[in-house]
Parts: sequence; C-alpha cells; structure tokens
Amino acid sequence: MLAAIKLARPFPAPRVARQVRWLSSSLSRRSDALFVHRDTPHNNPGISFEFTPENLKRANEIISHYPPQYKKAAVIPLLDLGQRQNKGWTSISVMNYVARLLEMPPMRVYEVATFYTMFNREPIGENFVQVCTTTPCMLRGSTEILETVCSHLGGLKPGQTTKDDKFTVIEVECQGACSNAPMMVVNDDFYEDLTPTTTKAILDAFSKGTKPKPGPQSGRHTSENSAGLTALTSKPYGPGEHCLPEFQ
Ligand code: FES
Repeated sequence: MLAAIKLARPFPAPRVARQVRWLSSSLSRRSDALFVHRDTPHNNPGISFEFTPENLKRANEIISHYPPQYKKAAVIPLLDLGQRQNKGWTSISVMNYVARLLEMPPMRVYEVATFYTMFNREPIGENFVQVCTTTPCMLRGSTEILETVCSHLGGLKPGQTTKDDKFTVIEVECQGACSNAPMMVVNDDFYEDLTPTTTKAILDAFSKGTKPKPGPQSGRHTSENSAGLTALTSKPYGPGEHCLPEFQ
C-alpha cells in the first residue's frame, strides 16, 4: 500500500543546472602557422607539380616497400621527397600530386601535411634555421642563441625570412639533442653546444655558401662528459681474467 502511494506521487521536476565548463584559463596564443590553405598567387592548385624522373623512380621504389593495397603508407616519405624538390616547402600542388600518385583522397594528404611540423607549407629561405627553445635548451642559454640568430640575420623575428631569401628562422620544440643543449638545426644537420660566437660563425659559413661541420661546437666528440671520464677509466678486464683457473 505504502509502495503504491509512493508511486502515485509525481516525480519532482528535474533541476536544470546551468553548466559552465571552463576549458582553458590561459590566454590563447596565436600560432605562427596557418593550418588551413588559402589560395595565393604562389600556392594554388593551378601551379603544376610533378616529380623529376629521378624522384619518380625513387618514389616508385619507396611505394614498392608496401603491399599494393597499402601504398598510401608511403605518404610521408613522398611528401618529404616533394618538399625537397619544391625548394623546401610543401605546396598544395605537391600534396595533390602525392594524393594522385598514391590514389588517396587529397584531404587525407592535407591531414598529414598539416599535422607534421616538418612539412613547411609556405616558402622558406635557402637555409632553414630551427632553434630549439624547450626547457633543457632554455636552461643552457637558448634564449640568447635565438636572439643571436635573429640579430645576426638583420633583425629577423622567428618565422621570418631574410630579404635575400638565404635564411628562414623558426623556434622549435625539443629536437632530441638535449645532452648537447643549446642547439639548432640548419637544413638537415644539428649544431650543438652552441655559444653566441659559434652560432655567428655557423651562420657566416652558410651565408658564404659553405657548410660548417655539424655536431658539438665545443670540442666534444658527441655527448660525453665535458669534464672528462668518470667511469671506465681503467683498462677493462678481458674474458675469463678473474675466473677460477678451471673456468679459464
Ligand atoms: S630541449 Fe633542445 S634538444 Fe631537447
């Protein structure tokens, strides 16, 4: 009886709570890259692009690494090949050409090219300078290195190209060479253990058309302790040296 009475009572009207959900409490920061394509005179689908015979041969060789039904897996190496042929940047025509070659919807190629930051979607200078400013490099002076690069190239700001099209400078996240911080990448090479003086010398060499020796600029061979060896300082013993005679 009690249960019947309870069921007969009307349910209270649900309370409508005003939901306010803060997604972010910090100011949004504008990126220096545009992730949507806008047709411009230098970047529109009307500009033809196709691989040179050598690159087409290379592309077919890369495609042959994958089963025929999965040839779209070659999209990243082919975009890279296209970018290298197209003076270091991936235009809409490069993307459309790769899509045609791999028989993929162009949108799938755009998704890849806009996701991976190694694809430059605007023209760059002859030398592409990427200065790492992530924490380990910052703690080792990358702010000064970035300022040195920008001022030595005539007061550039990150994201800009020199008037003679020789250099483009950008700021990048960790390049995986933190043990040789601070560092920068010029084209395909790492320049590490930088100081303002060595940074200027590297830029001067590139502006003269030469390529300075990549790697640590401090005299270190790789990323060994700059204060000298602290382990493995004596000759390692050979096989069986400390074994009982019957095991030697
Ligand atoms: S933080 Fe600069 S290379 Fe890792």
